[in-house]
Amino acid sequence: VSLVQQFVEFIEQAPIQSLRAVCERILAKCRSLTGAEAGTIFIVRRQGRRRWLEAVSAQNDSLPAADAAFVIPVDETSIAGYVAVTGETLFIGDAYHIGPEHSFRFNPGFDRQTGFHTQSILCFALSSLPGRIIGVVQLINRREPGERLARPFLPEHEAMIAPVNHIVGHAIERADAMERISLQNLTLRERNRELRQERQRVERLQHETERAFRLSVDLLARAAELHDADTGNHISRVSEYAALLARLARQPKRYCAEIAFSATLHDVGKMSVDKAVLLKPGRLDERELVEMRRHTLYGHAILRDSERLGMAAEIARSHHEQWAGSGYPDGLAGEAIPLSARVVAIADVYDALRSARPYKAPIDHAQALAIMTRGDDRLTPAQHFDPHLLSLFVEHHPRFEDIWQRFADEG
Ligand SMILES: [Fe+2]
Repeated sequence: VSLVQQFVEFIEQAPIQSLRAVCERILAKCRSLTGAEAGTIFIVRRQGRRRWLEAVSAQNDSLPAADAAFVIPVDETSIAGYVAVTGETLFIGDAYHIGPEHSFRFNPGFDRQTGFHTQSILCFALSSLPGRIIGVVQLINRREPGERLARPFLPEHEAMIAPVNHIVGHAIERADAMERISLQNLTLRERNRELRQERQRVERLQHETERAFRLSVDLLARAAELHDADTGNHISRVSEYAALLARLARQPKRYCAEIAFSATLHDVGKMSVDKAVLLKPGRLDERELVEMRRHTLYGHAILRDSERLGMAAEIARSHHEQWAGSGYPDGLAGEAIPLSARVVAIADVYDALRSARPYKAPIDHAQALAIMTRGDDRLTPAQHFDPHLLSLFVEHHPRFEDIWQRFADEG
């Protein structure tokens, strides 16, 4: 009992140890109990059907300390292999004279290499549970103090260790499992790190793509501006009004961001309008008006192929539609007109009222607000605008004036 206690205490002293440390301690204890000059602890390793013994601890009082790093197959041709297969304990008096009735042989390679002489061997299996062999302990050369020759090991030596066999086996198995888990954790952590890096790389790419996209939209909007004499900062302001009105209409953040850049392209179709008509000072005749109104269809045609420009395409097409169905090009009415286009319609008209055009003088905010709410000879608010959006515009009208001031045309 005291020996069992000793062993348990010895193993439990440091419950979290590396497999190697556990085996070193166990081997030292086995040797001190039996008087063995040298010894090795092997652990059974498995991969699929293949099994082999890996030496994890080797001690030898006659040789300088060396790392145990060798493997032997689990089969009946070697001493340790035989024990791992059968679970039998072997007492060998002279390693160099093993009877021909045995399948196993002593491998003299180590002795030849080191000049050591192996004589007696005690080799037994380590089990964590009955029948579950997890390793092999091989003890070599039992020495009595002062004697030159090694003595054979005796059954009493095995009997000393047998009661603690499963405790030792358990400790080894636990240490091995801990090592595997920490190795697995390490692998998982590494994999996580790789995934995180990959995600960052994709985000960076998306960001770059988005930047390039915004730049293209901006360039396109600016290019359209060049074909239109009277726009000035009109594009920037319409974008700002539209985003503001979308926010006031409680549209999601994403939608507001989308409408801000999509609105800049509302008149992009003007670059396809006949220059003579586009740049004509004064009122347009019927034929010219028809051509001018085509900018909605031209714009839609320019933008419709890109999924990413879906909102820009619907704005370009429908920003001259009117709530009552009296607009162009499709004569849509009410909510059949896309919300984005209804928003831009208000933004566009307000800005046009404020701006100087070849055929009209600019007016101030109060006058523009009056026309937006009460109308004039050209504009009937109830007919033109989404009444809810118009009411939001009226409620928050000073903020539209602010945008006008911030993006005022120079000169
Ligand atoms: Fe337009």
